[in-house]
Amino acid sequence: MDGHTPHGGAARSRSGTWFGGTDKTGFFHRSGIKAMGVPDRMFDGRPVIGICNTWSQLAPCNAHLRELAEYVSRGVYEAGGLPLEFPVSSLGETLMRPSTMMYRNLASMDVEEALRANPLDGVVLLAGCDKTTPALLMGAASVDLPSIMLSGGPTLTGRREGRQLPSGTGTYEMYDQVRAGTMTPEDFVGAEACMWRSNGSCNTMGTASTMASLVEVMGMALPGNGAIPAVDARRRTLAHDTGFRAVELVRENLLMSKVVTREAFENAIRTNAAIGGSTNAVVHLLALAGRAEVDLTLEDFDRVAAGVPLLVDLVPSGRYLMEDFFDAGGVPVVAGELGDLLHRDALTVTGRTLGENIEGLKGWGSPVIRTLADPLQEDAGIAVLRGNLAPGGALVKPSAATPELLTHRGRAVVFEDIDDLRARIDDPALDVEADSVLVLKGAGPKGYPGMPEMGNLPIPAKLLRAGVTDMVRISDARMSGTAFGTVVLHVVPESAAGGPLALVETGDVIELDVPGRRLNLEVADAELDRRRAALGTPQAPATGGYLQLYLHHVTQADTGADLDFLRGKRGSEVPRAGH
Ligand code: FES
Repeated sequence: MDGHTPHGGAARSRSGTWFGGTDKTGFFHRSGIKAMGVPDRMFDGRPVIGICNTWSQLAPCNAHLRELAEYVSRGVYEAGGLPLEFPVSSLGETLMRPSTMMYRNLASMDVEEALRANPLDGVVLLAGCDKTTPALLMGAASVDLPSIMLSGGPTLTGRREGRQLPSGTGTYEMYDQVRAGTMTPEDFVGAEACMWRSNGSCNTMGTASTMASLVEVMGMALPGNGAIPAVDARRRTLAHDTGFRAVELVRENLLMSKVVTREAFENAIRTNAAIGGSTNAVVHLLALAGRAEVDLTLEDFDRVAAGVPLLVDLVPSGRYLMEDFFDAGGVPVVAGELGDLLHRDALTVTGRTLGENIEGLKGWGSPVIRTLADPLQEDAGIAVLRGNLAPGGALVKPSAATPELLTHRGRAVVFEDIDDLRARIDDPALDVEADSVLVLKGAGPKGYPGMPEMGNLPIPAKLLRAGVTDMVRISDARMSGTAFGTVVLHVVPESAAGGPLALVETGDVIELDVPGRRLNLEVADAELDRRRAALGTPQAPATGGYLQLYLHHVTQADTGADLDFLRGKRGSEVPRAGH
C-alpha cells in the first residue's frame, strides 16, 4: 500500500510533528523508519513508544534486556502503538573503572538527549544493574514524557555444595575467609560460576534489587517489578504488560512528573527501611529529586523513615535471597503490610493509586516478609549523622551494623587513599586494635574519582584471624548494597573538597553516636585550623574529556552527586527539525 495517512492538525502528537507533514521533512522521517519494514499504516497518529535499553554484554546483569524488549514490543503493538527500541550507555557494576558512579550522570545525559531528540510520545525504561536504574530515571525526569520502567529482575539463587551464595555479600564473606586462612583460593575461584546462575541483577537486597523495588513502590513500574526473577516467565509477561501500559500512558497524558512526587519519594524512603535496602538509594533518590524538582533533603531519609521497622529478611540485613522474596509476595505484600505508613493515594503508572494497586493483597505468612506486629528490627531507617567530622552529613545503615558498635569511641587508623589502604591493611605491623576506627580518605565523588563502593574497608587480616568480624569504618565513599558492617558513609564535604575528613590523623579520637546522630572528631578547633592551613585549598585538575567535566561540576553526596548543570527539568520541546 502506497501513500501515508498524515496525522496532523492542531491535535498533532509529539511524534506527529516528525511523521505528520507532507513536506520533505516528513518524507525523511517516515522513509527512514520504513527502511526497517514498518508499514505506512503505522503513521496514522498512533503513540510511538521508545524502548530505552541498557542491554550490554559489558553489563552482564542486563544481558537479557534485548529479549525482554521483544516482549515490551509485543505489548506496545497489542495496545495499538509503534515500538522503537534504542540503546543508551550501560553501566556494568562488575567491570567498569574507576567506578560506575562516575558514569551515572553521563548515562543520564545520554538518556535525556535521546528522549528529547527523537519522535517519541512515551518511553519504556529498561534497566537492571545498579546505576542503570537511576541513570534512566534521572534522564527521563528531566524530559518528562509519559514514562514507565521495567527492571531486568534478579538472578537465580546462587548455590554451591549445599550452601547459598548471595551475590556480592558472599564474595566479601568468602574473601575474608581466604584472608583469614579458612578457605582455599581454589575453593574461592570455584564459587565464581555458582553465584550468578543466570542473567539478572544481584540476588541480594543490593542496590539493583533495592532500586527495582523502590521504582515499584514509587509507582514508576507495574506491580511485581521489584522481585520477579530475571528468567521467570512472569518477567516476560510483565514486559508485555509494561509495553501495553506505555501506550495507554500516552493516551492518558500521564506524565512522569505526575507520578514522581514528594509522596512517591516518601513511599520509597519508608519502603527502603522496611526492605533493608541499600544506602545507595539515598544518593540516587536525592539526584532524582533534583531532576524532578522535588524538594528532598538528606535529613528526610532519617525523619521520614523514623519508626519504620525492618520487615524483609533478606541478605545483607537478613537471611534470604530475592527468589524467596518473590515467592513471599515481593513489594506489593510489603506495601500492604506497611499500610498507612505509605501514601496510599499516590498515583502510579497503572493509572490507579498505590492503595488501589495493592487492595486486598495479603502475604501467605512466609517468614521472608514479617508483619508490623512481628518485625525483624524495630527502627530500620538510615541514620543521618552530623558533627564536626561531617558538617554536611554522613549516613549509616543500622540494620546492617553491629548494635554494640553504634555507640563507640575509638582511636583513628587513617588511610590517605585506596592505594594506601591496599598497601597497609594486611601489614602485620599495622598499629590497629579491634576497637580502632578505620578511616579512608579520597574516596568521595571528586576524590577517587567517582565515589566507589569501598566504604566497607576490609577488616585487617590479623584481626580477622583473631575473630574480629566488624569494626567502625568511616569514609566519603559509598558501600555496595550487598555489603554490611558498622560503616559510616557519604561524609560531606568529602576530603578532596576540603572537608574535615581530610584533617584526621592516626591517633585522633573519633566518637560515633548513632542514637544521638553525632559523628565527632575530638581534636581542638585550633589544631584543626592549623592542619587545614597546612593542606591548602584543593583544586580540580584539568584532565580533559568527560573526567574534567565531571570533576568541575559534580555535587556532593548530600545533593545526589549529580552534575550541577543537570539538575531540574528541561522538558521535551525541540523547536527545530534537522532537515
Ligand atoms: Fe549488577 Fe549487582 S553487579 S546488579
